[in-house]
Amino acid sequence: MDLHHLQPPFIGRTSMEDTQRTSTTPTETTVEQNQRLVFAVNGERFELSTIDPSTTLLQFLRSQTRFKSVKLGCGEGGCGACNVLLSKFDSNLKQVEDYTVSSCLTLLCSLNGCSITTTEGLGSSKDGFHSIHQRFAGFHASQCGFCTPGMCVSLFSALVNAEKTNRPEAPLGVSKLTASEAEKAISGNLCRCTGYRPIADVCKSFTSDVDMEDLGINSFWKKGKSLDAKLQKLPFYDSKQICTYPEFLKNEDNPPLRLKYQNKSWYSPLSMEDLRSLLDSVSAEKDVMVKLVAGNTGMGYYKEVEHYDKFIDLRFIPELSTIKRVRSYLEVGATVTISKLILALKEETNDDSFSEGVMVFKKIASHLEKIASESIRNLASLGGNLVMAQKGFPSDIATVLLAVKSKVTVMTAQEKEFLTLEEFLERPALDSRSVLLSVHVPFLESTKNGYSGKSNAKLVFETYRASPRPLGNALAYLNASFLADVSTCDNGVVINSIQLALGSFGIKHAIRASMVENYLVGKTITFGLMYEALKLIRAAVSPEDGMSHPAYRSSLAVSFLFEFLLPLVDASASNINGCTNETTYNGERTPLLSSAKQVVESSREHYPVGEPIIKSGAAIQASGEAVFVDDIPSPSNCLHGAFIYSTKPLAWVKGIKSKSEKDLHAVVSFRDIPKGGVNIGAKTLFGPEPLFADDLTQCAGQRIAFAVADTQKSADMAADSAIVDYDTKDLEPPILTVEQAVEKSSFFEVPSFLYPSHVGDFSKGMAEADHHIYSAEIKLGSQYYFYMETQTALAVPDEDNCMVVYSSIQVPEFAHSVIAQCLNIPENNVRVITRRVGGGFGGKAIKAMPVAAACALAAHKLRRPVRTYLNRKTDMILAGGRHPMKINYTVGFKSNGKITALHLDILLNAGMAPDISPIMPWNMVGALKKYDWGAFSFDIKVCKTNHSSKSAMRGPGEVQATYIAEAVIEHVAAVLSIDVGSVRETNFHTFDSLRLFYGNDSAGESLEYTLPTIWDKLMKSSNFDHRVEMVKKFNESNRWRKKGLSRVPILHEVSLRATPGRVSILRDGSIVVEVGGIELGQGLWTKVKQMAAYCLSAVRCDGADGLLEKIRVIQADTLSMVQGGFTAGSTTSEASCEAVRLCCKVLVERLMALKEKLQEQTGSVNWDFLILQANFQSVNLSASSYFVPEFSSMRYINYGAAVTEVEINLLTGETKILQSDIIYDCGKSMNPAVDLGQIEGAFVQGIGFFMLEEYLTNSDGLVIVDGTWTYKIPTIDTIPNQLNVEILNSGHHKKRVLSSKASGEPPLLLAVSVHCATRSAIKEARNQLRCWKGSDDDGSDSSFNLDVPATMPVVKTLCGLDNVEFYLQSLLSKQ
Ligand SMILES: Cc1cc2nc3c(=O)[nH]c(=O)nc-3n(C[C@H](O)[C@H](O)[C@H](O)COP(=O)(O)OP(=O)(O)OC[C@H]3O[C@@H](n4cnc5c(N)ncnc54)[C@H](O)[C@@H]3O)c2cc1C
Ligand code: FES
Ligand code: FES
Repeated sequence: MDLHHLQPPFIGRTSMEDTQRTSTTPTETTVEQNQRLVFAVNGERFELSTIDPSTTLLQFLRSQTRFKSVKLGCGEGGCGACNVLLSKFDSNLKQVEDYTVSSCLTLLCSLNGCSITTTEGLGSSKDGFHSIHQRFAGFHASQCGFCTPGMCVSLFSALVNAEKTNRPEAPLGVSKLTASEAEKAISGNLCRCTGYRPIADVCKSFTSDVDMEDLGINSFWKKGKSLDAKLQKLPFYDSKQICTYPEFLKNEDNPPLRLKYQNKSWYSPLSMEDLRSLLDSVSAEKDVMVKLVAGNTGMGYYKEVEHYDKFIDLRFIPELSTIKRVRSYLEVGATVTISKLILALKEETNDDSFSEGVMVFKKIASHLEKIASESIRNLASLGGNLVMAQKGFPSDIATVLLAVKSKVTVMTAQEKEFLTLEEFLERPALDSRSVLLSVHVPFLESTKNGYSGKSNAKLVFETYRASPRPLGNALAYLNASFLADVSTCDNGVVINSIQLALGSFGIKHAIRASMVENYLVGKTITFGLMYEALKLIRAAVSPEDGMSHPAYRSSLAVSFLFEFLLPLVDASASNINGCTNETTYNGERTPLLSSAKQVVESSREHYPVGEPIIKSGAAIQASGEAVFVDDIPSPSNCLHGAFIYSTKPLAWVKGIKSKSEKDLHAVVSFRDIPKGGVNIGAKTLFGPEPLFADDLTQCAGQRIAFAVADTQKSADMAADSAIVDYDTKDLEPPILTVEQAVEKSSFFEVPSFLYPSHVGDFSKGMAEADHHIYSAEIKLGSQYYFYMETQTALAVPDEDNCMVVYSSIQVPEFAHSVIAQCLNIPENNVRVITRRVGGGFGGKAIKAMPVAAACALAAHKLRRPVRTYLNRKTDMILAGGRHPMKINYTVGFKSNGKITALHLDILLNAGMAPDISPIMPWNMVGALKKYDWGAFSFDIKVCKTNHSSKSAMRGPGEVQATYIAEAVIEHVAAVLSIDVGSVRETNFHTFDSLRLFYGNDSAGESLEYTLPTIWDKLMKSSNFDHRVEMVKKFNESNRWRKKGLSRVPILHEVSLRATPGRVSILRDGSIVVEVGGIELGQGLWTKVKQMAAYCLSAVRCDGADGLLEKIRVIQADTLSMVQGGFTAGSTTSEASCEAVRLCCKVLVERLMALKEKLQEQTGSVNWDFLILQANFQSVNLSASSYFVPEFSSMRYINYGAAVTEVEINLLTGETKILQSDIIYDCGKSMNPAVDLGQIEGAFVQGIGFFMLEEYLTNSDGLVIVDGTWTYKIPTIDTIPNQLNVEILNSGHHKKRVLSSKASGEPPLLLAVSVHCATRSAIKEARNQLRCWKGSDDDGSDSSFNLDVPATMPVVKTLCGLDNVEFYLQSLLSKQ
């Protein structure tokens, strides 16, 4: 079935007529007269008179309009995929205000009179793309494309607002935006594919201050072109092109909204009197749930599921929405947004005359800029934040305003009260009938007039926050705000008064550290005083039970107070400047991605293969026209499903009840599997996994049932509120650790042909060694895919007991077979269609099958279409992810670092079902053999446990193996106290040892072993030796920051699998290509198109250059192309290309004779004419193939190396990646732009694994990180400041497909260099700490274990949670 056959029940423009039509629907109540919600989307007028007030803009756009570019990535404000531009018209000022907002949190009713622009509003394939779309495509900045619409909108908003500044006019075609603003524009947007570098280039390409030379590889110009030529080639940017606020809306009479919908209502009171009477009237009503609404961003945190009856929008009450400067304070209305407050604070600081009040405001503004992301700050109000802070939310604003002694005005039912912020926070949470009216932020007086009354007194103020992302979009581990009034005396600096506010560390709300304040007041600051104060503050910061990293959070308080006081120890009145010193990171950061270089070579030998052509579909991905599964309009009668999962690891399921049965149609479980069908959700070569738990659930996170309702919201609510009745009677305890699995011999079998062989004689190797390390232990955790598009499927029952399933899946063929088995129908009754996948990374291979199967089962049972789009939390709980493991290694080595023997005992936690786990030993050993270990033996057990089954994730097993190999090398170097780089080199493979370890087939020819060349080349290109010296000097002269540098090689073995292809030439000469491989964003379709164009050009028609444009690769359809296989393991692109080459060969042979004959007759033959003639002569213009790789050439090794330099902050544990240089061998790249995208994207995903991403479970094995609040993938501010990538075109690989090599997974392993560099920096920190401790430790402690991921708490713990105290002790002991 074609996608377009599916018609939505209600689609497109909701014009007046539509509204009238819909308002007659019987389920909707009549509307109060003249009450209507009017707004515009992309210039189209929408008028609604019936709408559930809890509807978000995203829900409305996606379900009731054709604007599907707004994507649901998280539903909590944390990803930017749903960003839209919101425009408002101020009729007094006659000005339009434009800003981005998260549409997933914006309530539709709050948009009366507003205009919304999505990326569709900027341009389209039909009306012409906007230059933003064109540049996203041309800079190769869109891979899967799921994040791209949101990115485009964020950039568009930055451009629109830059034009409004009073900066000098920019040259034609360029914006007034600065490069640094451009990068920041997307700091709240997540992308899991690209690694951000190309996206940053797109943004910077619009700016006037960018050096065009700094912009990366693109399709607009070739290297060496002049600046002018480059500018001319860029798609033209016309700053006036888009009107964000349509004229017709300006003339609308839009009184604030008052809507009723069934028993719910939305009110927008215009005055305090209105509000009061409203609150009085609702107080009189019993059991009415009232929600006061400002920006509604709190929903992103609380995910409130309650059904509110009344929504009261506070934003139209003047007293609540204005900012007034009164003599000694700013009076800020509670609904003023954080963005507006920042502007107001900055405006105050525009005053040239410096005063301390100005300095304080400036710092508050700068702190506020790190709250959430711009699209949240534009909605979120000051009052909303403080009300949430009172309820226990870890607010930054409460902490910052507490230190400056802010006050608040509150209106309760009885009275209006004026309270200090401290009093307000300490009170019980406001009830929904009480309103926070305003906040007074004091403008601290210049001390000339005497804040403390002392003549030479000065104010010192600083704010701090330690969080996983420096630019915000992450809650702080701890935030702090310190204000002191100090004056100088003969002995130094005296503290006259001090306010120390701390928050976000796991207490109910921000607090003042009064004990410390009292201790410090009146005293002269000395190291001794600091030491005592730090002891007190450590005790004062005591996170509540259950809070993660309590000791780390306390140590941050110590670090921040130390940073605050340190400059005052020796300061004179003149150099007290508010505290900045070498310790701090709070000042302006260097640009995020200061530079990046790409060295790529294109080759014309197989033109257009080898050209960096634009990724197929990139422009429509940017313009939002690309159709993902959830964008397919729902067929009429469509239902939606949501999984109910187990929260117990091993228990009998006695029953399921849902508290929310609204619109619920069925709760589908294993009992609904038709007679003869099998309870199967997924299968691999190694066995099946059940679709649903039967009577016994076998892990927390196992699917138990599928709640099916009218809407996704209702299905989610039903699933979320489901109560499962468990019983553990007569059950053994669950197996939750690998140790327990060993005890119970609970393993999955690894087929002998998949268990790799040992190399050499381990005992002999150990005997040859001078030194030994016995049974050292490492543990590795899991990683979540975080594809931006969560799991999704749509199943549509078809005639004759058939089922069509649209699935976002990497293996449609397997889903097909699973569905047939489950429904007990023959396989020719099932059809699985996959057009594109919004990011897979392995997670949409096995784990997408049950999603498709559940929809199919529900559709089969209910005889209605059923779809699902998993919410992020459920997706994270069900996903499984990377394999956690425990490793013990024993190693023998010579004094020069040559390793003679390595033995590994590895216990893999595979979870409850085999999935692909039995392949893990093979994968791991392939990457472990990267060094010549002398003798190499191992025992790898695949443990069956009561956890969710773990699955393949980009570089499955290989990334962990690379880490293990480097951990062994680092350990050996540490024991011998020799340079780790030399240990690496000593253990490099010779070509002979490479053949011994990998076998002749994988190793190939000696010329193909390019690692030694890469290694040397990288040393030179990264200026390695010089930088080693620089790092050394830096570390000698910096106490609280240390740098580390590391150069690491990688080897990654891949293998090709059989794959089909078909090429068909249509009557008009256009060409359709089908392949087994799925387009996941990795550019498979693009390479396939290039290959088809190259191969068909062998016909040598005139004008064959245009063939590329004639080719379309079409969606995978399991009935149209059977044996599609897996898209995984990095080699599907090349295998699909080879299958296409085989088809084209046949077609060329068929066409050649005719072409020659025609040429003889007419002299010249063009393609279209040839094809027309071929049709007349009944030449078969469709050819199929099934590429089966030869055994001797199916495996090969990929090589690369990376140098990374990092800087760590010893006070906070933050790691900044200063520079990464990568060289990666792509053989002869089929498309250097696509391969570069794979290398950079994989590298950044690897940074996530090694440095940031903690995929944690509770003691029952249930995943407890469930969204963007707790799971932190890299953002633009956590990637390397400089990222230089060179693709080595080694180009002589006879057995490879046109000499190309894979690029999808291996580069992820290169991120181990970041981890190694961090370890090296920590080593420096620990050496320093040892000196401070006066320990005569001989350095044996340098073999410390650095966990993966090396998060801030991990790094800080290794640098010393008490390093500040030891430093002070060492100083004091010398005094
Ligand atoms: C992704 C994300 C990241 C964030 N990161 C941070 C961060 O790092 N630091 C930080 O400090 N904050 C952070 N926040 C919180 C953000 O600042 C708050 O969500 C926001 O300030 C709440 O404002 P709002 O106007 O949207 O409130 P709403 O969501 O409208 O309201 C929140 C609550 O307060 C009530 N309420 C609102 N206004 C009033 C009033 N005047 N009187 C009485 N009750 C009222 C509402 O009824 C509701 O219960 C983050 C939020 C998101 C979504
Ligand atoms: S979906 Fe709205 S921010 Fe992620
Ligand atoms: S391209 Fe950004 S998430 Fe895929």
